[in-house]
Amino acid sequence: MSAISAVVMLALFLTSSPLLAQTSLSAASLKGALAPYDLRVEYLTNPLGVDTPQPRFFWKNRHSERGQSQTAFELIVSSSPSADTGDLWESGKMSGDSSIQIVYGGKPLASNRTYYWKLRIYDSEDKASPWSEVARFDTGLLSPSDWKGQWIGSDGLLRREFTLPEEPRRARAYIAGLGYYELHLNGRRVGNHVLDPGWTDYKKRVLYATYDVTRLLRQGKNVIGVMLGQGWYKSRALMFELYIEDASGKVTEIHSDTSWQTAPGPILEDSIYNGETYDARLEQPGWDRPDFAAAAGWHQASAVEAPGGVLSSQMMPAIQVIETIVPLTMTNPAPGVYVFDLGQNLSGWAQLRVSGPAGTDIRLRFSELLYDNGLINQENLRSARAEDHYILRGDGATEVWEPRFTYHGFRYIEVTGFPGTPRLDSLRGRVVHTAVSPAGNFSASTQILNDIQHLILWGQKTNLHSIPTDCCQRDERMGWMGDAQVTAEEAMMNYDMAAFYTNFLRNIRDEQAADGSITDTVPHIWGQRPADPAWGTAYPLIAWYMYQNYGDRRLIEDYYDSLKKYVEFLRSKAENGLLKYSYYGDWVAIEKCPGSLVSTFYYYYDTKVLADMARLINKTAEAQAYDKLAGDIKAAFNREFFDPKTRSYGPTQTANALPLFIGLATDKERGPAWSELFNDLVYEHDSHLTTGIIGTKYILDVLTSTGNSDLAYDILTRTDFPSYGYMLKNGATTLWEIWQKREGPSMNSHNHPMLGSIGAWFYRALAGINIAPDSAAYKKLVIKPQMVRDLTHASGSLSTINGEVGCAWSKGDCHVKLEAVIPVGSEALIYIPVFKLRNLQLTEGGTVVFADSQLKTSLPGIKSIEAKGGNLIIQVGSGRYAFKLTGE
Ligand code: BGC
Repeated sequence: MSAISAVVMLALFLTSSPLLAQTSLSAASLKGALAPYDLRVEYLTNPLGVDTPQPRFFWKNRHSERGQSQTAFELIVSSSPSADTGDLWESGKMSGDSSIQIVYGGKPLASNRTYYWKLRIYDSEDKASPWSEVARFDTGLLSPSDWKGQWIGSDGLLRREFTLPEEPRRARAYIAGLGYYELHLNGRRVGNHVLDPGWTDYKKRVLYATYDVTRLLRQGKNVIGVMLGQGWYKSRALMFELYIEDASGKVTEIHSDTSWQTAPGPILEDSIYNGETYDARLEQPGWDRPDFAAAAGWHQASAVEAPGGVLSSQMMPAIQVIETIVPLTMTNPAPGVYVFDLGQNLSGWAQLRVSGPAGTDIRLRFSELLYDNGLINQENLRSARAEDHYILRGDGATEVWEPRFTYHGFRYIEVTGFPGTPRLDSLRGRVVHTAVSPAGNFSASTQILNDIQHLILWGQKTNLHSIPTDCCQRDERMGWMGDAQVTAEEAMMNYDMAAFYTNFLRNIRDEQAADGSITDTVPHIWGQRPADPAWGTAYPLIAWYMYQNYGDRRLIEDYYDSLKKYVEFLRSKAENGLLKYSYYGDWVAIEKCPGSLVSTFYYYYDTKVLADMARLINKTAEAQAYDKLAGDIKAAFNREFFDPKTRSYGPTQTANALPLFIGLATDKERGPAWSELFNDLVYEHDSHLTTGIIGTKYILDVLTSTGNSDLAYDILTRTDFPSYGYMLKNGATTLWEIWQKREGPSMNSHNHPMLGSIGAWFYRALAGINIAPDSAAYKKLVIKPQMVRDLTHASGSLSTINGEVGCAWSKGDCHVKLEAVIPVGSEALIYIPVFKLRNLQLTEGGTVVFADSQLKTSLPGIKSIEAKGGNLIIQVGSGRYAFKLTGE
């Protein structure tokens, strides 16, 4: 699949410049700044339930000319849908080139309201753009007293009937249903969230969802129905508020209390690991509609103990059914046993289509692996049973069923107990994960790189289940922080992760103890407190990546004290500048480097990042103090780990890569450490990694920064053990947990995203897209593709918070082509390698801009061109560029 699409993309690139076409302005006749687009509040499009008193606004700009930026904006927030005047906020013309993280500055916002907003911008010539379309946001319940309901328990189904004298003008439902809920109104399912709400430490925080239910309510009798599953809460509890406003503005409130009715439903068992059992004979048709004649078994719900956590709005994309996959094959490896192959390992479940006698029990079992005899192999799921049952209603009609309150990680589905012989379309695979939008595209002329990218994307997205999980199949699926931190940068390039990690960082802070320590997993179920420093580092590093990728300065301000407490906790555990405790270190490495080296590396990294954060928010004295601490750690690190006899940090790749990556090595150690690393990679291991998840994250960057991208390319194109190609050759469709091929009961998940950290290198090195070191949020870019070995083409595009960024290049015998897209307000340094070409000539859009070692024509957007260090370095402003370098 990816093979074909990559070929198509390459063909497109060579013929018609997809990068330029893809992002070119549809209405070429429009001049000047176009209306701002992609308006967001707190990273989300028209969100409901905003519970931040001063939400932030985001938009993107387009302009018909190059080299443009926003110089001012004018923003209106209104209670009226037309947003003609800003009764809440009229910003006036505010100068500034930022179109992100603009903090609301109007009147206090009230709970449960809808606000409308629009804006226009002024360009470099101070010309106004047209007004944007009107966007909106809804506030959530801003004060605890807005929640009037009680936490109630449930046998499975809950219902509440009420009467409305007239159709409502506006209605919002706020629901926190633990472990999982499904909300119905008048017989209709509300919204498309599944496995909702997101997983938190319920003692600290419970997330609620907000739904616009205006259209589902009617004059007369109405019924709210709620199904509850156990999820991670392992029990059932509901908190619910419905605010209904009539034409006169009068508000009726319905909330959860003991007047609600409850009864057992058709779900007999629901467990995340073990699966769901559903007996369709126990369905109660009409239970979620008015005039339902409650049968025996219905009784009043009772109040239950509150989970304990504060109620917060779920301000991130929900888990959803993202895609439906038709199986590739069905086999019949044993009598009555059918095995379906989806051709792709994924997270989710199966949808079943069947008709047959009432009471027939169909069993579905899920696996990532098959035995040679064609039967499913569930050994690597450990204690997770991963087994669903559907018991037929048997009314003659086709019954379509899928579970609600479980999920599996699988490629194969075994069906037994099917009445008759199933057909290929008796089952569909349902791909289920947090609905983050794709943000990146990468492709290259060497097919194995596209295939690795496929592993990374599927491994990444299918492990987003409201938190970043380690895996999605076995008895784990935890928010392991080490896995989260190594994958975060890759994830932020491939997906829009801003709201997701905002939520996750808050989950981490919720787990912080008074001594500043945090935990290996968040929410904390498995692992230890304090976290292994290579796991705990997720807290400062993901916060810092949020700043680097999304410019989230407010997050740094809000989290600074807590992050500082964390670094101070590390300091309290350090001995003479060394942090020695470590549980996992360079986890799953083939050649393991000492845990204390990894821990001290992160102690240094976290301290440096904290110093950078302090500088960012103008805490200069603290920045200096943490710089000083970092200096002390550096000295201790070199004293302890650099061995003057072997002239290295040790005999493993990771031991030498880590200090080189972060500048822990001084001039004295750098050369020897690099030689050791190079020898190990090239001569001892023939361009194979022996690193675990920590070393793997940094080693390719070290190779590129030392001018050895070709070696990184060699490593990534290997197909024998240990390599990504080895996984592919052995049928992987998602990344494995370990380099080894294992399929037994030991630790060997076949969908673990952590080794996918290298995905960031694809964009940075091969597509060449980098945020300049002194910049954030892609305001200043360095476009510097590594045109290595036999790679003839690579392209990458990123939908950044500031707009589209792209680079696509190809090289031939005597030419290099490079197309770049730079968003309005950004600037870039573009590096085009000249290889051994002489008599260089550079054209842009067909016009000669550089020849005879000098600038020939000045074109809009191009600020300078110079030949330096084997490159042509072109400084450009915003816009789209098509360069072609030729020579002899
Ligand atoms: C998980 C890992 C995790 C590790 C801690 C494993 O069981 O699946 O990915 O980080 O434990 O070492």
